[in-house]
Amino acid sequence: MTKRRILVTSALPYANGPIHLGHLVEYIQTDIWVRFQKMRGNECWYVCADDTHGTPIMLRAEKEGITPEQLIDRVWKEHKADFDGFLVGFDNYYSTNSPETKHYADDIYLKLKAAGLIEVRAVEQYYDPVKEMFLPDRFIKGECPKCHAKDQYGDSCEVCGTTYQPTDLLNPYSAVSGATPVRKQSDHHFFKLGACTDFLRGWIRPPQVQPEAANKLIEWLDAGLSDWDISRDAPYFGFEIPGAPGKYYYVWLDAPIGYMGSFRNLCDTRGIDFDAFWDRQKAAAEKTELYHFIGKDILYFHALFWPAELESAGYRTPTSVFAHGFLTVNGTKMSKSRGTFITASSFLKNLNPEWLRYYFAAKLGAGIDDIDLNLEDFVARVNADLVGKYVNIASRAAGFITKHFDGTLAYTGDTWALTAQAGAAAAQVQEAYEAREYGQALRHIMSVADRINEEFDRAQPWVLAKDEGRRAELQDICSRTLHGFKLLSVLLAPVLPATARRVARELFGLDRDFLWSDAIEPPQRINAYRHLMTRVDQRQVDAMLSDNAPDTVSTKEAQSRARHPEQQQRASKPLVEPIAETIGIDDFAKVDLRVARIAKAEHVDGAEKLLRLTLDLGGETRNVFAGIKSAYSPEQLEGRLTVMVANLAPRKMKFGVSEGMVLAAGPGGKELFILNPDSGAEPGMKVK
Ligand code: 2FM
Ligand code: ZN
Repeated sequence: MTKRRILVTSALPYANGPIHLGHLVEYIQTDIWVRFQKMRGNECWYVCADDTHGTPIMLRAEKEGITPEQLIDRVWKEHKADFDGFLVGFDNYYSTNSPETKHYADDIYLKLKAAGLIEVRAVEQYYDPVKEMFLPDRFIKGECPKCHAKDQYGDSCEVCGTTYQPTDLLNPYSAVSGATPVRKQSDHHFFKLGACTDFLRGWIRPPQVQPEAANKLIEWLDAGLSDWDISRDAPYFGFEIPGAPGKYYYVWLDAPIGYMGSFRNLCDTRGIDFDAFWDRQKAAAEKTELYHFIGKDILYFHALFWPAELESAGYRTPTSVFAHGFLTVNGTKMSKSRGTFITASSFLKNLNPEWLRYYFAAKLGAGIDDIDLNLEDFVARVNADLVGKYVNIASRAAGFITKHFDGTLAYTGDTWALTAQAGAAAAQVQEAYEAREYGQALRHIMSVADRINEEFDRAQPWVLAKDEGRRAELQDICSRTLHGFKLLSVLLAPVLPATARRVARELFGLDRDFLWSDAIEPPQRINAYRHLMTRVDQRQVDAMLSDNAPDTVSTKEAQSRARHPEQQQRASKPLVEPIAETIGIDDFAKVDLRVARIAKAEHVDGAEKLLRLTLDLGGETRNVFAGIKSAYSPEQLEGRLTVMVANLAPRKMKFGVSEGMVLAAGPGGKELFILNPDSGAEPGMKVK
């Protein structure tokens, strides 16, 4: 296989607000694709940056009493922490306010100018005489000319939906100072986009853009392309245009150039050849690929302005621009008042980021349709697929291998069919990932998980385990099941990178992360299974929503930014019960805690929650009734270790006498944890 050389970007988020789940659709979509390419062994670089320039950022910094540089530094750190939390693996996360971005902005501007594609024209705009600045449309307010609603923005009315020019507003005022704006002229620099119409007509078609995007772009082209105003007057936070004092590049001019700036910065630290990816001739000769993942709302910039600029300045153009749709939550637009404008940090505080990665992936295809995060469906789907189907496979099979075969796997007969089946599944999933059809990939992966679970159940290993004469059969079915688990883990790795890493390293003992080629080969050994993933609890979702509720949004940013949701679960109703009245150390010293082996576990007729356990205390056995039936079937418990209170006075219960108490902790239901079998404890050992 020849190694592909790929550069990938996601749109640069503005440095004046937090990352929310709407943003994350794109970063998760891109990250999955990049991880997949890297696992395939391709050279793939993923760069992004904060989009730092423009009037809103300048004004926000002023309002906070800090410099724009201080604001963008702070926001960069917040954004970076959110992306790290969601396992978005940028090779470089940079800033457009960088020398590299300035260098390429000037370079492109001067090349466009030399090609006769920059024109300077006088423009009349609203000007705030108090702030002494030109006002962008969003900073002019007034009365809607149609419905006469007051305090409407300069571009559209939120009451009747009419769009208009700021000059159409009645009684306009500046949203910055409240002053009445005046009309004022100044020179603006325009990029003559119209001159690129022929080039663009040839360019805006698949595979450069998706078919449905091409239709929309052709409509725009047919309507005629206006020249693009790329300058703004001082005061403006941005780069000053060379040879034009007091004029700055409009933020949308230097934003996509930020892709180049971030990549240049990466090249300089890692010794990558920048020109191989951006120089027109070199990129063609070396067949490098360039992909931009974006939201459909910014197609105009990426599929018209950007390729036109690059082409006219002599750079390579993108291989493809991949647009995605918007995110809705519970079927409607994200809304601050409904609490569904969910920030990335509030999700991380309450839930596991891999759950969202999985859910978004399950909903994502290659098109530009919107995707919906239905929170009820989210809980059900993650629990059913990830915990019920996927993780369960390992927890069921690994116990037998550890207990009876000391971690060694062995297969009866040859494994040809097994590897062929795995190879076919991997090929199908590979094709789907490559085409960004993640929903299809995951459906296929889950159907493989169903098949593995069914085969395991059919073989009834818990019955085989009771029969010394059927050890080879037991080892074979568990080994096949674990081969299946490895296959699934490799196929899911682009979506669940943290879990896949643990599976590769902890369970299968690799000293590296999975590669795509690991999907097929049957494993020969495992280490003891360690708990991989908990179920989503509805209360965690409720807690996240309450963190985003309108009255708490302002305090939320001040809250600590937890990074390990599985360790720190905060909920509206606490998951951890309040601590009871304290006891003295002397009281505690009276409790004799011992490690016990669960020699036997049985159902109790008529008991809904209880299991009867025969506990081995290293010689002595005890009969204990334990309320852990919701979390474990008897087969899962036999052979495992637990901690028990050994000196609890025997208690007469409805079903018999209980001679002690088993310690299990967890929120309840399926999550009551007893000791890990590989904890190194011995029956009878005193717990200190
Ligand atoms: O729409 C946005 O959020 C912009 N900040 C995206 C910029 S993408 C690229 F052009 F830099
Ligand atoms: Zn109106």
